[in-house]
Amino acid sequence: MNIALELTQRKPYLWINPSKSDSIRLDMVNMLQAKEDWDAFASLLQELFGTPVIDSPLKSLSRVQMHHRGKHFLKEDAVLPVAGSIKARGGFFEVLYHAREIALHEGLVSREDSVRLLASQQEFFSKYALHVASTGNLGLSIGLMGRSLGFQVFVHMSSDAKEWKKERLRSRGAEVIEYDGDYSEAVIRGREEAAKDAKAYFVDDERSLRLFWGYSKAGYDLQAQLPDDISQERPLFVSIPCGVGGAPGGIAYALKAIYGNRVHIFFAEPIEAPAVLLGMATEKGEGIRVQDIGLTGKTLADGLAVGKPSEFVCRQMKEVLSGIYTVSDEALQAMQYLLYKEEGIKCEPSACAGVLLSDYMQTEEGRAYLQKEGVQEENIRYVYWATGGALVPEEIFSQQLEEGKKVLQERPDIFEVD
Ligand SMILES: Cc1ncc(COP(=O)(O)O)c(C=O)c1O
Repeated sequence: MNIALELTQRKPYLWINPSKSDSIRLDMVNMLQAKEDWDAFASLLQELFGTPVIDSPLKSLSRVQMHHRGKHFLKEDAVLPVAGSIKARGGFFEVLYHAREIALHEGLVSREDSVRLLASQQEFFSKYALHVASTGNLGLSIGLMGRSLGFQVFVHMSSDAKEWKKERLRSRGAEVIEYDGDYSEAVIRGREEAAKDAKAYFVDDERSLRLFWGYSKAGYDLQAQLPDDISQERPLFVSIPCGVGGAPGGIAYALKAIYGNRVHIFFAEPIEAPAVLLGMATEKGEGIRVQDIGLTGKTLADGLAVGKPSEFVCRQMKEVLSGIYTVSDEALQAMQYLLYKEEGIKCEPSACAGVLLSDYMQTEEGRAYLQKEGVQEENIRYVYWATGGALVPEEIFSQQLEEGKKVLQERPDIFEVD
C-alpha cells in the first residue's frame, strides 16, 4: 500500500494501524499523578469559575447513527466548562500547574497552602508571560485561564484561526499575533518569541508532556460514566478528532491503559490535513508534512488544520491506536447540521469528525478489522468525542447550519464510505 497515493485521492479513507499491539502495558504513574493534581486544582477552579471540575456529560444518542448496530454515545466536550472545547483539558492543566510551580518557587505559597490562594494573585502573575501557538481552541483555553490568573498572554495564531476566537481573546486582554502561514509556522515563531523573555513560558502543543497528561484525565472521567461491563466481547470503540495529536493522544493513552483490549481507539482527520495518519503510516513522524505529498492542509475544521504531527504523539500511539480515518469538509458540515437538528447539540465542524466512526466500520477495511478482532457490531459501545462548539457565536453557527443543511439536501449519501 502506498499511503501517499491513497491520501492524495482525496477520498474518505480508513487506515488500520498494523503496529497496534494486543499485549501493550502502559505506565499509569503519570496519569495518576495528573489526576491527583487535577483534584488539587478543584478549589482554585471553583474560586475562579464557580466549578471545581472540568468534565462533560456522556450523552446517549437517540437518532444520529442509530441506523448502525451497537450503542452510540457522545462525549460532549463541546460544553466543557469555561472554554467549550477538548483543548481546555490540557490547556487549563498546564497553566494551573505552571502557576503553582512559580508560586512555590517564589515563596508566594507553601506546599501546605491551598492552591485556592492563587485566585487573588493577579498582580504577582502579571510579571509573567504565557505564549502559545494555536489554531484557535488551545489559545482560547490558555488565554481564558491565563488572563483570569493575571498572566500576560500572547497567542500566536495560524492563518486558519477563526476571527471570533481572536476577538474573544482580545476582549479578555490577551495579545493575538497573526501569521500568514500554517500552524507549524505559528509554533516555531511562538517558541522563538517566548525564548527571548526569561519570565515567559511556552505552552508547546507539539511537545508538552503536561498537556498530554492533563488530557489523560478524560480517561478516568469517561470510565466513571460508563457501565462496568465493558469486555472484549462488548468493547468500546472511541473516535476522536485529531489535529497535532496531543488531545486525542492523551485521551487514547489513558483509555488504553484503563481498558486494554476492551477498547479500540480511532482518530479522525480532514482529507486535506491527515498529519498524524501520514506521520504514523510512513513512520516519519514530524519529519513529513501533508504538503510534502501535495495536500493543502486547508480545511474548514480549523482545530484540525495541521500539516505536521506531534512526533511525541506518533510514538506514543504506535501500539495503542487501532486506526485513523479521513473526512471531507462537506461531511463535517452535514454532521454539524444533523447533530443540531436531531439531537439539539451544538458542535463546531472540527468536533463532528469523530461522530462518523460507525460509517467507516461498514467499509471493507472496517469489516476486516471487526472480524480480526472477533467483535460483533451489535455489541459495540461507540463513544464519539464531540470536541468543541459551545462558544461559537449564534450568528456564525446559524450560517454554518444553513451550509450543512444544503450539503445534506444536495448529497443525502454524504456519509457513505466505499
Ligand atoms: C475542536 C477541536 N477538536 C479537536 C482538536 C484536536 O486536538 P489536537 O490538535 O491536540 O490533536 C482541536 C485542536 O485544536 C480542536 O480545536
